[in-house]
Amino acid sequence: KHVAVVMGGYSSEFQISLNSGAVVCEALDKEKYLVHPIHITKDGWFFVSNDGTKQPVDKSSFSFGTGTETVKPDVIFNTIHGTPGEDGYLQAYWELLGIPHTSADYYQAALSFNKRDCLSVLKNFGVRCANSYYINQGSEINADEIIKKTGLPCFVKPNRSGSSFGVSKVHEMKALMPAIEKAFGEDSEIIIETALVGTEVSVGVYKKGEEIIALPVTEIVSENDFFDYEAKYEGKSEEITPARISEKETEMVQKEAIRIYKLLNMKGITRSEFIIEKGKPYFLEINTNPGLSKESIVPKQTKEAGMTLPAFFDILIQNVLL
Ligand code: DAL
Ligand code: MG
Repeated sequence: KHVAVVMGGYSSEFQISLNSGAVVCEALDKEKYLVHPIHITKDGWFFVSNDGTKQPVDKSSFSFGTGTETVKPDVIFNTIHGTPGEDGYLQAYWELLGIPHTSADYYQAALSFNKRDCLSVLKNFGVRCANSYYINQGSEINADEIIKKTGLPCFVKPNRSGSSFGVSKVHEMKALMPAIEKAFGEDSEIIIETALVGTEVSVGVYKKGEEIIALPVTEIVSENDFFDYEAKYEGKSEEITPARISEKETEMVQKEAIRIYKLLNMKGITRSEFIIEKGKPYFLEINTNPGLSKESIVPKQTKEAGMTLPAFFDILIQNVLL
């Protein structure tokens, strides 16, 4: 079977996606799959052959030449973080073309990538989350009203982004406007949330056939003020798997992550973040294309679960192969 591993994208997470894609390309079982790395960039799409030459992808069919034949992939392994691969655009396109892909379907991806909309839906089903306030570039910004709703400290985040790009923790009123400006650098919509106090944990959930399975829980201990970009990718944090929380808390947070996966009708591997505050999990967000790079959390969780990456990626592909 031909597997296209699609990576890159238009967002600040471009390089992280290339790292995730490289891990997947390396790990996929070459006896079973013919692996084609595809880079998607802002200035054009291209297929990168294994000897480093670039071949264009035909956008009308998502097929490409390998030098000897034209290939339309049997399945797409999607490792794009952020737009246009984690927010539904490419998913909708592949679905129109009838090419199965490993990631969440287009609507589920679009909904969950929009933090405000995802939280609004989940709140209706009793999922606990922080108080939040939403603004877009057209909104009048009333700092008092925002802080009345969220309190201090609070987090200012781009509404649709990842890897903590554009995120600030605000401790005092005077830092609010600069934080808002910074977040607007990443997205035209912003969400401001109460900073919860507790243990931050991350839970991978995936589907195997009809079964929905939670991976071991990871605890995030950041040296920085929060789990920012530097903490995530430059070693300024410790990610402890399994998390040092009670068995009861582990079970509770895994159960909540599975419930959210089902409520959002997900497929593939997702990773949800929570803060456990006073014994209760508060949902922060779900990533439908979580990082798979060497620094990322999901590979640590699959290892803790006793699975090799080739075996795990095989499950994700077999789930969607027609
Ligand atoms: N958005 C990053 C890649 C993650 O969720 O791991
Ligand atoms: Mg994220």
